[in-house]
Amino acid sequence: MDFSLTEEHIMIRDAARDFANTELLPGVIERDNLQKFPKDLVKKMGDLGFLGIMVDPKYGGSGMDAISYVLIMEELSKIDASASVIVSVNNSLVCYGLETYGTEEQKEKYLTKLATGEFIGAFCLSEPEAGSDATSQKTTAIDKGSHYLLNGTKNWITNGGRADVYIVIAQTDRDKGSHGINAFIVEKGTEGFHVGPKEDKLGIRGSDTHTLQFNDVKIPKKNRIGVNGSGFRFAMKTLSGGRIGIAAQALGIASGAFELARKYSKERKAFGTEICNHQAIAFKLADMATDIEAARQLVMKAAWEKDQGKNYDYSSAMAKLYASKVAMEHTVEAVQIHGGNGFVKEYHVERLMRDAKITQIYEGTSEIQKIVISRSLLRD
Ligand code: CAA
Ligand code: FAD
Repeated sequence: MDFSLTEEHIMIRDAARDFANTELLPGVIERDNLQKFPKDLVKKMGDLGFLGIMVDPKYGGSGMDAISYVLIMEELSKIDASASVIVSVNNSLVCYGLETYGTEEQKEKYLTKLATGEFIGAFCLSEPEAGSDATSQKTTAIDKGSHYLLNGTKNWITNGGRADVYIVIAQTDRDKGSHGINAFIVEKGTEGFHVGPKEDKLGIRGSDTHTLQFNDVKIPKKNRIGVNGSGFRFAMKTLSGGRIGIAAQALGIASGAFELARKYSKERKAFGTEICNHQAIAFKLADMATDIEAARQLVMKAAWEKDQGKNYDYSSAMAKLYASKVAMEHTVEAVQIHGGNGFVKEYHVERLMRDAKITQIYEGTSEIQKIVISRSLLRD
């Protein structure tokens, strides 16, 4: 067993760290305040190959492994989780699904542009009445012979108002339950496709979240992904990889907050000494470091399993469950270590605390990860 990173991994991590510190950090408070989508930064991340990290170079991707992906996600998330969720959705939920299950024509037309950042993607599963209970899709796509007719509402869609390509999950045959669900590619601007107002959120305020409405949207037959009825399995498989990305995001938020708290504790004085010399603070740092390291091992293990071609449904759920808990708990501690300064925007930890919460909700809530883990544990 070897826990060390390769030279290539270290180079990739350092490139992401450098980008996060020089490009993401300067405007991060303003983007959070104004709910500003980081459009120019997305372009730069595309140029660096961060939007198609694991995609085969023949489709314009960077051809890297899942370990590289989590290293990049952690570094970006230490500074700006709004930017990293764009990377996560584009890589795990859109590029992965298209590359693994799409036709050659779909890959040529969409993946090549998504992998380079020329296009941005969105993944549309959640609905007002089907969030955790994802098999209860109300959106329908009726087979009309030459095309499907799509009707329904998707909510909470990340990149909702910015994407060029939307992967939309819909019910094609209600009688077949989860086997009557399909995934479709919908292009922005298609007639009958409307983007609702942007959500005003607690955290990841720089990311773009919208409700989408589909009214008699015609989808060409060739835009269905995979064989008929495979859409729910497609969504679940895609989300297993997505959960590795969000686990890495949570890890980055936690480690970003930890680094700020450690530094602050060595500078701030109270009762005649730096606050890190008070055991109550030093022990908080010890707990944070230990839990973050444990989260990192789970995230790396899930990524490693993906790279080895093993099943990672269980390990990705565990990594997301644990890393998101660590992110939530320890960003609260980072605010505490900063005292009053922790409560103001300038010190960054309050934003990390607000951003941490979403990692326990999206791509399957913590309760849903426990369902995935326990079912897997109890399966013969
Ligand atoms: N791989 C392959 N097949 C799978 C699978 C997997 N990982 N998980 C389920 N399936 C199959 C099952 O085997 C079953 O097929 P059979 O009927 O042939 O046995 C079928 O799918 C239905 O599965 P379940 O009976 O397990 O379905 P369920 O109704 O009990 O739900 C669930 C399972 C795990 C709770 C699922 O609904 C779920 O993951 N919910 C959470 C949804 C979610 O994560 N949404 C995220 C939206 S995207 C997002 O959030 C992006 C973002 O923020 C940035
Ligand atoms: P509900 O399913 O209504 O859950 C409410 C509560 O009940 C939760 O605590 C949940 O854990 C609990 N619960 C539900 N069922 C059970 C059960 N069986 N056992 C125990 N507890 C249960 N979705 C997309 O498709 N694409 C996106 O890009 C996307 N981006 C998002 C971005 C943001 C900022 C947000 C907030 C959400 C996003 N989502 C996206 C939606 C997200 O995946 C859902 O919010 C999430 O899956 C939970 O669904 P829900 O909100 O309907 O909550």
